Amino acid sequence: MMLAALSGWTTLGVGGPADEMVFPETVDDAAAVVRRCAASGLPWRALGKGSNLLVDDAGVRGVVINTQRLRDISVAPDGRVRAGAGVATSVLMRRTMDGGLGGLECLVGYPATVGGAARMNAGGRWGETGARIEDVVAIDAAGEIVTVSAADCAFGYRHSALGRMLVVEVGFRLPQVDVAAYRLRISEIHREKAAAQPLKEPSAGCVFRNPVGASAGRLIDQAGLKGRAVGGAMVSNVHGNFIVNRGGAAATDVLRLIDTMREAVLRSSGIELRTEVEIWRRG
Ligand code: FAD
Ligand code: EPU
Repeated sequence: MMLAALSGWTTLGVGGPADEMVFPETVDDAAAVVRRCAASGLPWRALGKGSNLLVDDAGVRGVVINTQRLRDISVAPDGRVRAGAGVATSVLMRRTMDGGLGGLECLVGYPATVGGAARMNAGGRWGETGARIEDVVAIDAAGEIVTVSAADCAFGYRHSALGRMLVVEVGFRLPQVDVAAYRLRISEIHREKAAAQPLKEPSAGCVFRNPVGASAGRLIDQAGLKGRAVGGAMVSNVHGNFIVNRGGAAATDVLRLIDTMREAVLRSSGIELRTEVEIWRRG
């Protein structure tokens, strides 16, 4: 299928088209797509909610594999949960809570899919996704279906060994909780995040990884960059590590602003920031 711009598939709302986007409905479908790409030498990329992505204005070559139809979910009373890669983390939280299960505080406050959260080991102060994962079913570069244990996922800070694979299903092990107390805790975390981050504006979350022992947001704030804009892209006035699209931003605006932020922080603190958002380019 020839496609409209990827801007519509990302939370930041920038980026050109992919040559092709596919929506596998089963694990076998997904494996067949990867095998086709491997056989024809076409690059492929996985797309979840697009909430950690900056897609260049020229778009990307090859096939974007949108996981949104991989949305089966099963919740067992013993706390074992299996979820398709395309299940929204909000749905995962609701369904597991209905089953008396908790332990997903780390997923509050941002849109994600199960596959994207596993790949990024998403989280923060309230824990990380990888800590709740038992195993991951993925398609490897050759198109084979493989099961990867949590240990082999090598989860670290916004890192996993799943980068070269397509995650299709994730197995979680979650604790039984007092649901009323858990629900309260979730809304407290949400309140805290909404006060500290621009959750209602289009963004891709934090732009930069935190350097060891420091906060990128604070460094950007101290460099006086809050409110700095390039075209439609602006450093959030709420949190220095968020770039928001204040309307009509192009990827080039965002990329130029990223360079400005990196240079300013290097000048003011001597620290070189590294991006956390994944940047997709055509080349
Ligand atoms: P995408 O953005 O679609 O993809 C991200 C990367 O994962 C890409 O490289 C993509 O190719 C890969 N990927 C996606 N799906 C798969 C798959 N099935 N198999 C293999 N690779 C895959 N992140 C945090 O960690 N903590 C936060 O507190 C946080 N707060 C945020 C707040 C806001 C307002 C926003 C917009 C984002 C925030 N983020 C945060 C970033 C983002 O939400 C997470 O990184 C999230 O896990 C990305 O999930 P996704 O499904 O949107 O992945
Ligand atoms: N701060 C400032 N100015 C700012 C932003 C932050 O002074 O503009 C200060 C805060 O007051 C606080 C410190 O910096 O004292 C740390 O800030 P915060 O608690 O907001 O955490 P963070 O390090 O900025 C990290 C993650 C977030 C995650 C939060 C909460 C990274 C890069 N960021 O932010 O993750 O939501 O902790 O757990 O690791 C993301 O990855 O996209 C993301 C948003």
